[in-house]
Amino acid sequence: MAKILPDISRTFSEYLLIPRLTEKKHIASNVSLQVPIARHKVGKPSRQMINIPFVSASMQAVSGVDMGIALARKGGVAFVYCSQSIKEQADMIKKIKHHKAGFVESDSNVQPNTTLKEAIAIIEETGHSTLAVTDDGSNKGKFLGILTDKDFWEYEDDVKKCVSEFMTPVDQVVFGTVGISLHQANLILHREKKECLPILDKSGNLDSLVFKKDFFDHKNNPSELLDEKKSLIAGAGVNTHDYKERVPALVEAGATIFVLDASDGYSEFQKETAQWMRKTYGDAIIIGGGNVVSGEGFRFLAESDAIDFVKVGIGGGSICITREQKGIGRGQASALLEIIEEREKFAKEKGEYVPICSDGGLANDTQIIIALAMGADMVMMGRYFAMTDESPTPKVSIKGRLYKPYWGEGSNRARNWQRYSHDAKSHSYKFEEGVDAYVPVVGPVTDVLDVTLDKIRSTMCNNGALTLKEFSEKAILTRISEQSFIEGGTSNVFTVDNDTLENV
Ligand code: IMP
Repeated sequence: MAKILPDISRTFSEYLLIPRLTEKKHIASNVSLQVPIARHKVGKPSRQMINIPFVSASMQAVSGVDMGIALARKGGVAFVYCSQSIKEQADMIKKIKHHKAGFVESDSNVQPNTTLKEAIAIIEETGHSTLAVTDDGSNKGKFLGILTDKDFWEYEDDVKKCVSEFMTPVDQVVFGTVGISLHQANLILHREKKECLPILDKSGNLDSLVFKKDFFDHKNNPSELLDEKKSLIAGAGVNTHDYKERVPALVEAGATIFVLDASDGYSEFQKETAQWMRKTYGDAIIIGGGNVVSGEGFRFLAESDAIDFVKVGIGGGSICITREQKGIGRGQASALLEIIEEREKFAKEKGEYVPICSDGGLANDTQIIIALAMGADMVMMGRYFAMTDESPTPKVSIKGRLYKPYWGEGSNRARNWQRYSHDAKSHSYKFEEGVDAYVPVVGPVTDVLDVTLDKIRSTMCNNGALTLKEFSEKAILTRISEQSFIEGGTSNVFTVDNDTLENV
């Protein structure tokens, strides 16, 4: 006979935190949001920490190059989606790895015989006031000079003349050579009172540009997640079908953190894939497994020894229809609590700590905070990041508001890749597990993250915690009734929006 679990499936919005003593040291500037992403011996450091407890979902509408760069610069990891060809995914990883904070590839370039009129058009179109002049007009061509909007006056100068007549030629340009550190480049910019420093290779070809204004941008991202060569750390999703070809290409491209992208990770396919990856690459890579929603699912993956962190969640995702289509899944809070308990048992028995990632269904900042308080080391989100400028989708205007498309990896739009099928080669399923939708645009990822991270820091201080580990250890949560849920909103006041005010 089927077994029925004693408690019902619960969600994060059914819980609230009871504040603990806030001591004087509990201020936001003392809070650390670093968490481990690699399994480690209890009490010993993890071989890989991330600087904020956020990772983005391995989804076509979420994690591409821009997200990989933006999120690593904030201290988290984007898992570049695997529902694309191996080459396309590896190229994305390479672009993230080649991104050097402060060293930008010039994307506005002209040839010496480009007319001033054409150059002005490029400046207006791109908004960039500095153009590199190269022999072939490419961003890696032989560097011949630099043209800025201060070198000409379009109302007086003859715009039919060539750029070569206005540019500062290479022999008068202050430049740096490949290998120079960002610090050295900024010192030169300061000493020479320049705004832009071209970086050239030994043959005089353009490599990149360093802008003075980016110095402050760099200073504003002290949590960047960098490897020992100072490149951003890149993450990638992989599947259990083509891993023997895909993983080597991604490792070669520079990815070091992987996640096995499956809706149900309690499977022999997953264990076998993870064990192959571990045997082939040892501890040089981090492997995340999942998703699971039960203690036994967690233990199965943790005991494989190959898995570094475990992802929790089935059916809670904003675009997910797995529960209605197949009747599998579990309330995210119930799943997480059972798995955290199992993780504690596992740590006591084996002396190993396995980080947990709560994946999907986080509808607001409060739910993120509750997930962390319950003991998740990090959260994975799709919708949250799909709404930002850095997701790979175009903005579309619907009734005067800006939106971005957001679709599930189990929707028809993405399903070619058969993520939801263990036996994809022999059978392709005839139903969808995800929908194709739109989400409002919220701006740059850094802006939304800054607000969420500040809320987390503030709640940690309310809870007398300076680290996320301390936060969950001290957390006391209460379940709330429907009435206290209503009480939590505004009450007995009349809220008005600006449109209403204008009509009063
Ligand atoms: P969100 O943050 O609520 O938007 O959920 C994102 C998570 O939903 C992802 O990390 C996946 O675990 C999951 N997911 C992605 N695509 C699908 C789908 O098509 N069906 C069900 N779950 C999905």
